[in-house]
Amino acid sequence: MDTEQGSVLWFVGLSGAGKTTTAREVAAKLRMRGRRVELLDGDELRATICKGLGFSREERLENIKRITYVAGLLARNGVIVLVSAITPYREMRAYAREQLPAFVEIYVKCPLAECERRDVKGLYAKARRGEIAHFTGITDPFAEPASPDITIDTAAGSIDGNTAAILAWLDNREQRP
Ligand code: PPS
Ligand code: MG
Repeated sequence: MDTEQGSVLWFVGLSGAGKTTTAREVAAKLRMRGRRVELLDGDELRATICKGLGFSREERLENIKRITYVAGLLARNGVIVLVSAITPYREMRAYAREQLPAFVEIYVKCPLAECERRDVKGLYAKARRGEIAHFTGITDPFAEPASPDITIDTAAGSIDGNTAAILAWLDNREQRP
């Protein structure tokens, strides 16, 4: 019988803030501890079960609803699910929190100017040229998380340090009665 508790670690933040990178690192560390882990990444899901969805408020909400649904299926089977998706509106995070067991909101904080400086995928430059509509932080809103469970700062902190902080928070939670 599977007695492991599933949970959902939801990484919120601007494009280029480091959601995918940090989630991958945390996933690797949890796997090394023998936990069953799945990563649901916005970019990947938008190529598969969320294909065709755009970036209007409604379509982003639909995207988040689909991700929440899959995360719920996995979590109820004892998997630790890591979601990396911008999730720019508070109502979306509230929805996911309400639907999912052991939901942990992790704000991957990074100033817009630094995300734009990194511009890993060249999307900010395109957005500035007007080639991408509704680009988060430029022509579309990002509501800063008001009460995340964990905040990591990827401009000031290292990947290793941030990963360690998240794992320490999870260890601490498991010890609570
Ligand atoms: S959301 O808002 O949660 O539904 O977005 P998400 O599913 O995480 O998808 C974000 C990734 O899509 C790429 N992309 C854009 N992001 C924001 N705004 C616009 N208009 C946009 N167009 C494409 C981008 O690669 C995002 O990935 P990350 O990992 O966040 O950089
Ligand atoms: Mg990403």
